[in-house]
Amino acid sequence: MKRDKTVEKKVKEIVKKYGAEKSSLIAILQDIQEAFNYLPKDALIVLNEALDVPLSRIYEVATFYNAFSLTPRGKYLIEVCAGTACHVTGAITLMDRLERELEVKCGETTKDAVFTLEQVRCLGCCSLAPVIRIGGNIHAYLTQDEIPKILRNYRQ
Ligand code: FES
Repeated sequence: MKRDKTVEKKVKEIVKKYGAEKSSLIAILQDIQEAFNYLPKDALIVLNEALDVPLSRIYEVATFYNAFSLTPRGKYLIEVCAGTACHVTGAITLMDRLERELEVKCGETTKDAVFTLEQVRCLGCCSLAPVIRIGGNIHAYLTQDEIPKILRNYRQ
């Protein structure tokens, strides 16, 4: 199968930056994730050859860390906290509203590739519950009525 030349070129550049060091696998994957917003399959194949690390090991690392995604993600990752404090203060209604507004299910990316919706265990700021994080920004004490406006702001 033909490889994506853009992916191949970029991954080779990244590998070179790290001196093709096997021990830099995680840092290299982070750079690839940042460049493409996910880890394209072709990128992992190029890595396998360039670093001489088994593909199975690369997949193991890529699936272990939450920061990596093997499927394309939207520009902004929306993380809905489902920890206890957020759960009891209405996280479920937030997820329901987000799914309706974005017309996706949890784990999916919007058609315009702006948002990916995910659920996480705890965002570490339970006193601000219920909380969601969008593109790294925390939205605290959130009510579902605020969601449409917040999404509009990110789309602008
Ligand atoms: S339970 Fe939601 S931030 Fe901890």
